[in-house]
Amino acid sequence: MKRLESKVCIVTGAAHGIGRAIAERFAAEGAWVLLVDVDQSSGEAAVSGIAAAGGLAQFVQTDVSATEQIERAVKVAKEQRRQIDVLVNNAAYFGDGNDALEATEDEWDRTYAVNLKGAALFTKAVLPSMLERKNGSIINIASIQGLVAGRLSVAYTSMKHGLIGLTRSTALDFGPHGIRANAICPGPIRTRISPPDGTPLHQRQVSKTMLARTGEPSEVAWAALFLASDESSYVTGAVMPVDGGWSAF
Ligand SMILES: NC(=O)c1ccc[n+]([C@@H]2O[C@H](COP(=O)([O-])OP(=O)(O)OC[C@H]3O[C@@H](n4cnc5c(N)ncnc54)[C@H](O)[C@@H]3O)[C@@H](O)[C@H]2O)c1
Repeated sequence: MKRLESKVCIVTGAAHGIGRAIAERFAAEGAWVLLVDVDQSSGEAAVSGIAAAGGLAQFVQTDVSATEQIERAVKVAKEQRRQIDVLVNNAAYFGDGNDALEATEDEWDRTYAVNLKGAALFTKAVLPSMLERKNGSIINIASIQGLVAGRLSVAYTSMKHGLIGLTRSTALDFGPHGIRANAICPGPIRTRISPPDGTPLHQRQVSKTMLARTGEPSEVAWAALFLASDESSYVTGAVMPVDGGWSAF
């Protein structure tokens, strides 16, 4: 039996990078996956790739900062499959790279709307379905910048710290109802936002890991698979670095 057989999963920010790798892994493990993203063409391409590999998936264009779009995406999942087992809050806005002196009100607002409020409102939208069945797994993709500071990214770092608070609060409030919430904190993972190999920033990232390399989106997806599956049935409120050891030294 596949590890997510008959589970219904929603992954936000699933058109690219880590979210796409998670959606692909979940589908390969037998889940029906709803991919949501603002990028329609890449989201649909991701779904086609999953279908070509024999998986079950659908795409709904959704901006996670818009409540009505979140509700529409959840409605699609409920209409298609009648239940929601797993939510992965992965979509993120990376901001302009500013310190507390330079960050604009717009940067704060947009970073909050996508990275923290978007995750909170998506959580709110799936909780009724999870409560009905007294079962569910919510996985928030935070960052090592949810644990430690990162240079010139005050708004992003603040929201990733907040996402860990959202994770723990949700785990505490809904644990008695069989709903688990956990956070993954990726370190430097090779996606379209990463510095190119060999650049000074890439070398700096490599030097901060114990494994002396950056990670791949698929390596985050394996951690998400564990947290989505029943294998992690006694794991909640956990904050799991997938960072090559960055946060441990
Ligand atoms: N790549 C890294 O090194 C790294 C490190 C730590 C944490 N992370 C986290 O991993 C997650 C994925 O990052 P990634 O590197 O794959 O980036 P990415 O840019 O490749 O993917 C992010 C996805 O989110 C989507 N998105 C952006 N705003 C959205 C919105 N408002 N509504 C819906 N979708 C939206 C984008 O279209 C994109 O598909 C993010 O939460 C990021 O903070 C990444």
